[in-house]
Formats: sequence, C-alpha cells, structure tokens
Amino acid sequence: MNITSEELRDKYLKFFEKKGHKIIPSASLIPENDPTVLFTTAGMQPLVPYLLGQKHPDGTRLANAQKCIRTGDIEEVGDDTHLTFFEMLGNWSLGDYGKEEAIKFSFEFITKELRIPLERFAVSCFAGDADAPKDDESAKIWESLGIRKERIAFLSKEDNWWGPAGKTGPCGPDTEMFYWKNNSEQAPEIFDPKNKNWVEIWNDVFMQYEKTAEGKIVDAEQENIDTGMGLERTLAVLNGKENVYQTDLFVPITSKVRELAGIVCLQDKPCSLDRKRSIRIVSDHIKAASF
Ligand code: SER
Repeated sequence: MNITSEELRDKYLKFFEKKGHKIIPSASLIPENDPTVLFTTAGMQPLVPYLLGQKHPDGTRLANAQKCIRTGDIEEVGDDTHLTFFEMLGNWSLGDYGKEEAIKFSFEFITKELRIPLERFAVSCFAGDADAPKDDESAKIWESLGIRKERIAFLSKEDNWWGPAGKTGPCGPDTEMFYWKNNSEQAPEIFDPKNKNWVEIWNDVFMQYEKTAEGKIVDAEQENIDTGMGLERTLAVLNGKENVYQTDLFVPITSKVRELAGIVCLQDKPCSLDRKRSIRIVSDHIKAASF
C-alpha cells in the first residue's frame, strides 16, 4: 500500500470518529499538572485525570494523534523503529466500551482499512502473574476473529503490561499487534516475538488497575481502554520500507542533515553503517528538540 503520513493519520481519526469517538487535539509535550514526568510520553498521559474517573468534557470515547517524547528509548534510536519524538494514534474508552469492542475495532481497522493480510499479522497477550491473571479473554477474542493460536504469544509483564505512565496511576495488561515486515521471506506459522521481522505497531491496554503510591496494584474504580499505534512505524511497514527514516516524516530531514554534513550516500557507494546511524540519530534528535 502507498500511503502518506497525512493519509494514515486521517484514516485513523475518521475511522474512530465513525465509531462515536470525539477527536481531541494533541496536548503539549510539556505535561501540565503532572509532576511525575518531564515529557508527554503517550497519548494517555494528558488523560490521566479522566482515566481516574473525572468527567471529560468531550465524553467517554476519544481519539487523537498525540506528539510524544520518550527519552527511555534514546539508546535504541538509530535502529529501524525507535525514536525519541514520535506521534501516537490513540483511541480511548473512559468507562465506556470494554476489551471485546476495543479488540474488534483494532481488528477492523487493521484488516479493512489498512488491509493488512492475516499472514503478516500476530498478537501477544499477558501471561499472568501475582498482580493479574492470564489474559485468556483477549486471546479468545482474537481467535474468534480468525487469528490462529500459533500467532498468539503469551508474554510477561515486561512485554504485555502498560503503565502507569509516571510512578502512580492507571495501568493494566495489554495486547500488542505485530506486522511481519520482511518482503522476501514469508512469515513463519508460529509467532516468535523475538524475531526482528515482527514489528509492534499497536497496543491495546486494558486499564483495569491502579498503582498506588505504596506500589500496590489495586482494582481501578473505572475500567478504561487506552490504545496506541506508532504512526512512524506503521507508516514504514505499510509502505514496505525497512525503517522509519525512509518515510515521508523523515526523508526531508535526513536529506538536509546529509547535505549540511556533506555526506553523499550512493547506491553503488553506500555510507557505512555508523554513518547511517549517525544521520538517523541527528535527524531524530533535531526533530525532538524542535518540537
Ligand atoms: N499507553 C500505551 C502505550 O504507550 C497505549 O497507548 O503503548
């Protein structure tokens, strides 16, 4: 599929608008009234008070494209998918729809709007631990939609749990969606999340819990849905690109960086990997600093 960043953003927001969501603007990258973080790291972050039960003026179904900065990923920047500054497409249910509807929305968007074939698709669910049980419910919903058991991996908290964004607040198990990006090799029958050809593109978080200041995980008063799709990586894989730097969100920046640094990368005389990585890092950091 050939799709621009603008088209992808638009497709996502229109889809969720049709499903009764109000589109809200991207909040500031500097959090207001949240001393637990330096930057807005996820679409849910400006929504924390509403995830904790305060009424949002725009209702119980929201969606947006949120600008985010994640310094936690800074050492990964320069690989194919990590960035410090990125845009997150997200939809939220504030005590409105639950797990089943959230997964069905994701599935419909992935298969009908983005037309991702199931051969290239896999998911992961929470394996369960002392804080929360194994998420068989999500796996069953995926199976009912046609995802084979072999393409559903159960992973621990490290991979399939999200939040809180700061030290305390809403959190819960999640289900992550992966796309097989390799165009010259078919995706294996069995999903191995360690295989780098599987790129995580979307995360549906089931915010059923709250982490207290004492570090306890307790049931949340209101159950919410929080999802986040990485605009840059989804754009890259849909367009058959190897990495996020080959998308329209980066090509003008990397070209300018090369031009200013006097670096010429040719098809028959490519730049060294170190050079390429440096160009990527400088481009990412300039973008993050500018925003
Ligand atoms: N908060 C989750 C994430 O950042 C989903 O939006 O991945």
